[in-house]
Amino acid sequence: MAQTRNPTRRDFVRAAGAAAAAASAFPAPAIQKVRAANEQVLYGVIGTGGRGTYLLRHLRGIDSGRCVAVCDVYEPNLKNGVAAAGTNPAAYKDYRELLARKDIDAVLIATPLYMHFLPTRDALQAGKHVFCEKSLVFKPEEVHALRALARQYPKQVLQVGLQRRYSQFYRTVKQMIDKGMLGNVTHIKAQWHRNPGWTMKPNQPRERNWRLFREFSGGLTAELASHQIDVADWMFGAHPEYVVGVGGLEFRRDGRDVYDNIQLIFKYPKGQKLIYTAISTNKHLPLFGGTRTEFGECIMGTEGTVEITVGTDEEPAIALWYYEPAPRNVTPARQAKEKPIIAGATLAATGRGARGFPVLLEKDQFRGNESFLEKELKYARRWLYSRGIMVPEEDRNPVDVMLESFFECVRTGAKPAADVEVGLQDSTAVILANLAMDEGRRVYFSEIEQMGRGEETPRRRA
Ligand SMILES: NC(=O)c1ccc[n+]([C@@H]2O[C@H](COP(=O)([O-])OP(=O)(O)OC[C@H]3O[C@@H](n4cnc5c(N)ncnc54)[C@H](O)[C@@H]3O)[C@@H](O)[C@H]2O)c1
Repeated sequence: MAQTRNPTRRDFVRAAGAAAAAASAFPAPAIQKVRAANEQVLYGVIGTGGRGTYLLRHLRGIDSGRCVAVCDVYEPNLKNGVAAAGTNPAAYKDYRELLARKDIDAVLIATPLYMHFLPTRDALQAGKHVFCEKSLVFKPEEVHALRALARQYPKQVLQVGLQRRYSQFYRTVKQMIDKGMLGNVTHIKAQWHRNPGWTMKPNQPRERNWRLFREFSGGLTAELASHQIDVADWMFGAHPEYVVGVGGLEFRRDGRDVYDNIQLIFKYPKGQKLIYTAISTNKHLPLFGGTRTEFGECIMGTEGTVEITVGTDEEPAIALWYYEPAPRNVTPARQAKEKPIIAGATLAATGRGARGFPVLLEKDQFRGNESFLEKELKYARRWLYSRGIMVPEEDRNPVDVMLESFFECVRTGAKPAADVEVGLQDSTAVILANLAMDEGRRVYFSEIEQMGRGEETPRRRA
């Protein structure tokens, strides 16, 4: 009979420890309520397009900060920014005017990628704390310059918008990996598949379609893969050694010059690999039994697997944990009796797969001191999870946790979970992955050191 290793009580206790550690990394939402009004961080938002207004809508629910200014070069979006803030903020078209205001402690930057570095640099030089969207910077010279600036202004917070770092599920899974619960994690497969993905806005200047043009954008690698490359770096606890890839512009011929499909393999120092795809012609996600689409990661270890995704405002993050099936104990006598499925084929003793367990967050773990009703509710939820009727949900959207955590770092001087180095490593990976696809070669991460230093970018090897 196939032997499937089932989780023991000890495993659940270890998982409980992981969830508790992950949950305690960020302050509980109730704590901020006691904050005095004069402790609010006064901030401005630079770039109030799609993401800037999304952040502003989430920021409305966070009372540890107050939006006092917004800025956008495009009038309709500037108006949207004022409306989304809901605090009657001052409106600017030139971000330097916003930065000149002495009362502003911090800025959140959600401009297009090519316009991340300049406002970030100017904000640091103006003494502001900075939250900047991913991918943090666009060019190799900006990687070096921002690293130097961050050292020059160590008391100012510089946080990057990689929200998975603030998800309870992702943090729990990271703890599970660190406790060895997945064995040796050797491979991660990640995808972000869309259909049709980005389309060209008609009758608009190129800047308004900035994602589709290389002069402004790092394409799918910067806009989508950056999130998941960061997940791999975090879970592996390392940065890649080299990257290879194939990018193509084959299916969306609308004048764009960024790839519409990318396939990348990142090799990490201990041989681990991130295998990554982003395409624009199909959005099936072969995780979670096909119940989600588009994006997710499959983290594979010698003793288990985790399927995970961050979700959206409409769909919660989910994470499923699979035990690695033990190999079938097939004796030679039994093997002789069993008929090969395909004539001539050797019968593979792979072991039977098992259903995935939802990764349990702290709220579903038994502490031992809960009331009768609380305990019953936990049993009920876990029963519903085990039957796939309900999935565990994070209490809070990671975007809210991320924004609140930014203000907390501003107030306390703590280092953000997604700090400048996380952002710069992520941007480096984006830049080098695009180079690998453009030049059709293996690009080593050490090459970044020579790039953007006023010397010629390394060319394709003969
Ligand atoms: N973390 C995430 O999940 C996530 C999701 C979406 C977008 N983003 C990031 O947010 C950034 C913005 O993306 P978007 O979808 O909002 O793009 P967008 O085009 O909708 O908005 C960008 C805005 O910046 C404005 N802008 C451009 N130059 C400016 C300048 N010099 N000063 C002030 N405003 C300026 C534009 O007019 C526009 O309104 C990108 O870096 C993107 O990768 C992150």
